[in-house]
Amino acid sequence: MCGIVGYLGDRPAYDILIKGLKRLEYRGYDSAGVAMIHNGAFSLFKCKGKVSDLEEAVGMQDKSGNVGIGHTRWATHGPPNDVNAHPHASNDGTLVLIHNGIIENYASLKSELINRGHVFKSDTDTEVLVHFIEDIRDKTGANLFDAVRIALSEVIGAYAIVILDKSNPHQMIAARKSSPLVIGVGKDNEFYIASDATPIIEYTRNVVYLEDEEIARLDRTDGLKIVTISNQNKDPYVQELEMKLEAIEKGGYDSFMLKEIHEQPRSINDSIRGRMNLGMGTVKMSGVDEHADRWNKATRILVVACGTSWHAGLVAEYLFEEFARIPVEVEYASEFRYRNPVIYPTDVVIAISQSGETADTLAAIELAKEAGAFIFGVCNVVGSSIARATHSGAYTHAGPEIGVASTKAFTAQVSVLYLLALSVAQLRGMMRPERLNRLMAELNSVPEKIAEVLKTNEDVKKIAEIYKDSTNALYLGRGYSFPVALEGALKLKEISYIHAEGYPAAEMKHGPIALIDEEMPVFVIATQGASYEKVVSNIQEVKARKGKIIAIVTEGDKVVKELADHAIEIPKSDDSLVPLISVIPFQLLSYHVAVMRGCNVDQPRNLAKSVTVE
Ligand code: F6R
Repeated sequence: MCGIVGYLGDRPAYDILIKGLKRLEYRGYDSAGVAMIHNGAFSLFKCKGKVSDLEEAVGMQDKSGNVGIGHTRWATHGPPNDVNAHPHASNDGTLVLIHNGIIENYASLKSELINRGHVFKSDTDTEVLVHFIEDIRDKTGANLFDAVRIALSEVIGAYAIVILDKSNPHQMIAARKSSPLVIGVGKDNEFYIASDATPIIEYTRNVVYLEDEEIARLDRTDGLKIVTISNQNKDPYVQELEMKLEAIEKGGYDSFMLKEIHEQPRSINDSIRGRMNLGMGTVKMSGVDEHADRWNKATRILVVACGTSWHAGLVAEYLFEEFARIPVEVEYASEFRYRNPVIYPTDVVIAISQSGETADTLAAIELAKEAGAFIFGVCNVVGSSIARATHSGAYTHAGPEIGVASTKAFTAQVSVLYLLALSVAQLRGMMRPERLNRLMAELNSVPEKIAEVLKTNEDVKKIAEIYKDSTNALYLGRGYSFPVALEGALKLKEISYIHAEGYPAAEMKHGPIALIDEEMPVFVIATQGASYEKVVSNIQEVKARKGKIIAIVTEGDKVVKELADHAIEIPKSDDSLVPLISVIPFQLLSYHVAVMRGCNVDQPRNLAKSVTVE
């Protein structure tokens, strides 16, 4: 949820930290701070607001130092303000620490420390942790590396931390549990550390992903040493990053969200490339053939995910039930983990997550693992916690998604789930080769169709202009288009702050119809397919109550265009592929409405890209 960055080497740390924090700002952006060691003292700057506010606050002050840490915060304990911003200092001021996660037993630790004379300035659990580490160091006489290890063995909760000691500018200590940390290894014991690889890739491609309950000592002389909380030595496993620098820059667009919407023809191609052979009529997904027995004996699929990824999971329910004839249940990970759910060892659990770090999804995976189910991950971030916690899986290959509102990750997830459903149907002999071939060919043409839909941008913008001041909106769809109605509503509310609801079109008459009047825009996916006539009837029900209809229709449609106030045409495709195409105008619409309302589309209020707290 928060962004962590650190540098230890010969270069000025401040610029590296600020640049890194800007790359990580999607993880949280309510306050920011940095600390460098210079001449045996900390230069500590922190404030409420964005990284740009921090830069302004630092201004021309001395920011020298070749070692430093930086943090961008998404508040959990205490409101966003200057005092609660990280880094936090220990009682005697010798240590500073940055933290992502939650220390659950912070209250009891804090009262013990207060009894021992510690004075706290902030409301945060982080400040308690740095005082606790200092206390252990002083009580036991241990060095900082050992003190961190001993302290963490008594801590309950989740954390990624980096800590500096002003008397040792040649060293940095880091640790993780349930929150990601990546160490970049430069030349001659130069080190970078961050919550993800984006602040690191322009300096080095060699990285070490810290594992849960590992503590790392980064040292200018001794290099990198890793131990577990139980004090076992671990050999650092250095991997090479494949990410490209251009992928994490805006590339001429005004925002990451707009860039990511426009990237979809490419990102979907990347998601499906190499996974189907049109000539041979076969689909090949990693994790299916290798675990054929688990897929063959599966009597049920459970999908666990949150937010937009949950919507992709809902599309997967329709796909798996139609293609592979396996019953599917789609679960909010946050509900599933606490419901005492019935999980069979014959279940296949598909965990979907863009970031691969969502705490609720991770916990749901652990629960299902304990029950003996087979866990298949669909993640975007390579090497992420979920990717590593699952038995097998497939990456979505959408490339880094920086805009907080998920766009290209959704379509990449649906594309991968589509191929997965086809692959399992093929394995279980549930699909005729002609149908498989036809669907693969249609999937292959989706990127082109999306490129066509992106050309409706100006028309969508005009519609946005008309409805930008609405206070409510309703999104309707049936069958494969129901999850898209949910996703359309989520996109609008999260970035423009207009209240929006997604509903199955036929369910509308059981309640939401009461909301409809001449002020209410109703966005309907009314493409020609299995439920076309039924949706036309639902549109008539809205019109009868004077609601405004904005319809997504199939190219050449006449009936709905006649009824609707506005229509956006999309190319014809099989019903099962409509979600990939019909979601595009909704993404564009939310984007334009948000920009017209003066909202920050990449960093909507109160949200963060990676929700590593429950
Ligand atoms: C919405 C959005 C969130 C995420 C959700 C799950 O645009 O981005 O709803 O989809 O927080 O995140 P991941 O997919 O990273 O597990």
